[in-house]
Amino acid sequence: MSRGLVCICNMVSEKEILATLKKGARSTAEIQQATKAGTSCGKCLMTIDRIVEEFLEKLPADPQRRIEFDNQ
Ligand code: FES
Repeated sequence: MSRGLVCICNMVSEKEILATLKKGARSTAEIQQATKAGTSCGKCLMTIDRIVEEFLEKLPADPQRRIEFDNQ
């Protein structure tokens, strides 16, 4: 489900949050640090948490192991 603009205070979209996760962020705190989303009123924090959780659930359990396997 697309959420569009997630953080109204800091004008941060779901697309920006997902891009930050794809660059390596792995927690709401890291999203806050990188995008400023959730750093003002905090009303968007539950939505950011959910986006982070959904993203992490889709990641392979152990990416390093998969890379090693792929190289054999
Ligand atoms: S809506 Fe994100 S900090 Fe206010």
